[in-house]
Amino acid sequence: MTEFNIYKDYKHNDELRRSFNELATTVFGINFEKWYQKGYWNDRYIPYSYVDQGKVIANVSVNLLDFIVDGERKRAIQIGTVMTHPDYRNRGLSAKLMNHVLAEYENQYDIMYLFANQTVLDFYPKFGFQRASEAQFSIEYTPSNPNVTGLNKLDGSNKNDLDFIYKMASERKPVSNKFGTINTEGISMFYSIYVFPDDTYYVEDEDAIVIFTSEDEQVDIFDIISRKEINLGNILSKITNTNTKKIIFHYTPDYPGIQTQSENFNGDDVLFVKTNGNNTFPNQVKHPITSKA
Ligand SMILES: CC(C)(COP(=O)(O)OP(=O)(O)OC[C@H]1O[C@@H](n2cnc3c(N)ncnc32)[C@H](O)[C@@H]1OP(=O)(O)O)[C@@H](O)C(=O)NCCC(=O)NCCS
Repeated sequence: MTEFNIYKDYKHNDELRRSFNELATTVFGINFEKWYQKGYWNDRYIPYSYVDQGKVIANVSVNLLDFIVDGERKRAIQIGTVMTHPDYRNRGLSAKLMNHVLAEYENQYDIMYLFANQTVLDFYPKFGFQRASEAQFSIEYTPSNPNVTGLNKLDGSNKNDLDFIYKMASERKPVSNKFGTINTEGISMFYSIYVFPDDTYYVEDEDAIVIFTSEDEQVDIFDIISRKEINLGNILSKITNTNTKKIIFHYTPDYPGIQTQSENFNGDDVLFVKTNGNNTFPNQVKHPITSKA
């Protein structure tokens, strides 16, 4: 087999980045260019790719972040954007890239993890990853006193608004001390641009950014970005209405005095984990959706 070279962290190389985006568009229908051009692709998202005659043909990306687990910091590495061009599959390229990344980061993480789609559930165990479960947290809630004052919509296509979100995300507290992430402002901007451009609000009283949707009786909270502890009751009174009956949290809520219900989370993707030393992935938590690569 022809030997291809591995290229790493080439985001500022326009030609390779364009080719990486072409492959990501072909395989997943996603394109990172806007994220790069707006300046949010930082040094924590690192592609490792095989290149054939200037074209990216296979990739494994590393995303460096930290977990907060019961108040304690853990070094985490999230693997993502694992893809091989259809013409180059079953030639061992993904396996070589995975093994390269595993060797390069050996002993440099407490927890390595990824989210696998249904077509690759038997792929990651080959590299020592084990399936883990997540929980979904919710509360029953109807506001006694809805009050939408001081709720300002942010525009995910406006550079000033995006820069404001990026600054807040860079200085944020983890969304939860039970299980939260930090150093994730880059990845979270991916969600601000592509996933939640119309669902992001600034709550003046709390100096917090809240990403949420409201439909019928349900409000889904995807993130609350704040530099200090927030008062959830105050935020809920602004983002709910008299029809609201249920709040779903897309992270692990940890609010004093608020008792949540939890059930098994059955998403499209499955969490796979590999740990170092005596670290374990915590039970009964939900990985914050806005940090998912
Ligand atoms: C999954 C994918 C990255 C594999 O790439 P690849 O370069 O063809 O994989 P490799 O040739 O390195 O395969 C390595 C090993 O995994 C096996 N394998 C490959 N694809 C697999 C799959 N989908 N499920 C289970 N095993 C798989 C191979 O048979 C090989 O096994 P072996 O070592 O026992 O011979 C590629 O099929 C792809 O791009 N799929 C679409 C994108 C995708 O779903 N990515 C995962 C995102 S979570």
